[in-house]
Amino acid sequence: MVDRQKTDVAALTEAEALAELERLSALLLAANAAYHTQDAPEISDAEYDALKRRNLAIEAKFPHLKRADSPSDQIGAAVAEGFGKIAHEIRMLSLENAFDDADVVDFEDRIRKYLGHDGPIAFTAEPKIDGLSLSLRYEQGQLVQAATRGDGEVGENVTQNARTISDIPQTLADAPDVLEVRGEVYMSHTDFQALNERQVARGGKTFANPRNAAAGSLRQLDPGITAERPLSFFAYAWGAVSAPLAETQMNSINRLRALGFSINQLTKVCNTAAEMLDHYHDIEARRASLGYDIDGVVYKVNELALQRRLGFRSTTPRWAIAHKFPAELAWTRLLAIDIQVGRTGALSPVARLQPVTVGGVVVSNATLHNEDYILGRDSKGEAIRGSKDIRVGDWVQVYRAGDVIPKIADVDLSQRPNTAQPYEFPTFCSECNSPAVREEGDAVRRCTGGLICPAQAVERLRHFVGRAAFDIEGLGAKQVEAFYRDEWVRTPADIFTLRARFGTGIQQLKNREGWGAKSAENLFDAIDEKRKIPLNRVIFALGIRHVGENSASLLANHYSTWDQFEAAMTHATIGEGAEWDELLAIDGVGGVLAASVIAAFQNDKERAAIDALAAELDIQAVAKRGPVDSPVAGKTVVFTGTLEKMTRAEAKARAESLGAKVSGSVSAKTDLLVAGPGAGSKAKAAADLGVQTIDEDGWIALIGDA
Ligand code: IVH
Repeated sequence: MVDRQKTDVAALTEAEALAELERLSALLLAANAAYHTQDAPEISDAEYDALKRRNLAIEAKFPHLKRADSPSDQIGAAVAEGFGKIAHEIRMLSLENAFDDADVVDFEDRIRKYLGHDGPIAFTAEPKIDGLSLSLRYEQGQLVQAATRGDGEVGENVTQNARTISDIPQTLADAPDVLEVRGEVYMSHTDFQALNERQVARGGKTFANPRNAAAGSLRQLDPGITAERPLSFFAYAWGAVSAPLAETQMNSINRLRALGFSINQLTKVCNTAAEMLDHYHDIEARRASLGYDIDGVVYKVNELALQRRLGFRSTTPRWAIAHKFPAELAWTRLLAIDIQVGRTGALSPVARLQPVTVGGVVVSNATLHNEDYILGRDSKGEAIRGSKDIRVGDWVQVYRAGDVIPKIADVDLSQRPNTAQPYEFPTFCSECNSPAVREEGDAVRRCTGGLICPAQAVERLRHFVGRAAFDIEGLGAKQVEAFYRDEWVRTPADIFTLRARFGTGIQQLKNREGWGAKSAENLFDAIDEKRKIPLNRVIFALGIRHVGENSASLLANHYSTWDQFEAAMTHATIGEGAEWDELLAIDGVGGVLAASVIAAFQNDKERAAIDALAAELDIQAVAKRGPVDSPVAGKTVVFTGTLEKMTRAEAKARAESLGAKVSGSVSAKTDLLVAGPGAGSKAKAAADLGVQTIDEDGWIALIGDA
């Protein structure tokens, strides 16, 4: 609540000024907290600005009364901190998606192949709850910590808030000493409606859907507010445990139920893909009457021993998949087509739509992908939407699937205005006017301006400071854009020289609008803190085309150190040579990705930017995951002949998870050959080189339960 009674600043006594500064500081702090946690702001922007101006005016009149934590020194958008960070002992993963029945059959098939398994494989099938995931840690039966998923490795500490959720037990009787229970926080439809009604009555912000409401309520800096928001929790998984809960997924979930957690009633064991699909359709039919939002069905291999054998890809388990419900649809008018220039120069057409509600969310933009898509063709030149092109003024059908950006499914030609013209795709960059060219085989037209294109440069900087990249406290997209505009920062390396250039002297950060001495110092410190950074984040942050978070991790895990990665990319040639072969031998790295990374390292301008950045950093080698004392860690292993107890893919993945390097050919560098029946030239080569050779049973005995 804002106290509107205002004594003129000029008339304030020193004692009154002191009290007033204290009051304003508290009000602004609360307003920041409310704003940055996406909660209903309790004061308008204008009121907020007025408070801030008054605070400044009083400080100007009584400089010696300025508080050490003065709100004038706060960065506009940097008060979002507040939650401590918690590193997950076991990563919180996401799920691969299946969109139709064939994807599910394929999922089952792949598992069978991976395991080399002919018999039936049982799966659990359960609703995919549309909320946000939470990990609860119990030690000696006491709830000691609750963390959001965050980036999967590090989440936010929301323990106090989780304690206010009635589905979450504070204590457990008869639980393992350490037990991390994972599940979904959500808000029921009834609670969501009631909350929005209360918000309207208070003149506060309403939430677009139950998921946003649940997220906004859990991520409250004030647990008192979370306590007023009715949140629920379903447990469906676990993280670290000091003793196994059971032998199967279903029994583990039942054990969690016995411990006092809410378990989804629609969780069922299915023995075939057909049963899984039946259960999916059953859940889909009940969707509207469940009383909470779900967006699909999750299937998980039931036997935990098989889950262990299947293991993980970089961010998803091989033993589970989310079968999503079909997207929701709505019709609306296409008002305009705008072009956005992305980080890699791609000209992306964006549809500006008459706002329409699709699946509870107001949509006003949709992606149009590329020029072929607008013309009614897919990337192979085949007809989509019955070859109907998309024109400004068209009546279009929009769909949304989960978090995916809205797309256009169809055009109603009977509603096309007579004046509508075919869309002409630009051949020059709208930002830097460089030619925009479309290379053969590329669906996308790209600006050729590279780093001289402001749009590309800014997008790269935004990517660089993004959450999965450098994630520098107080340096978000807004700040880097402003720094770019003023030519303070042109490439990522410039971020790390900001203190040297603008910490002192005539032009100082603390004198810029929105900054003060304290916030500037905080920013410089936050930047310095990120000089020490894991290799995978650096590789991802470079913003190289085709290199996402997953592939960055694959490269980092393989090369381990920046020096080795950099040397390999410097010496590599696209399409040939030892470095090229080595890149392609990484499971998950294909030719397109490999060529893109090499090209980036061999382009002079890009390379200069990369080198300048690396010189500012202390890049951390990849700490090998998995048991440190694995008997095969650091060894180079070759598999040959027929394996009878596991497939080649499983053997390779398992060896790699134990820290071994798996190679396809025997050389002097090979430490161990695992030879099954039918082994030929490789066994001979190993014998000639004196490489230790064992059979499959020997291998299993060696790795044991490691
Ligand atoms: S299992 C290792 N089960 O979906 C697998 N996830 O898209 C861990 N989710 O991050 C997840 N309902 O937040 C699982 N019944 C369910 C789920 C579920 C919702 C969420 C979860 C996860 C996301 C992945």
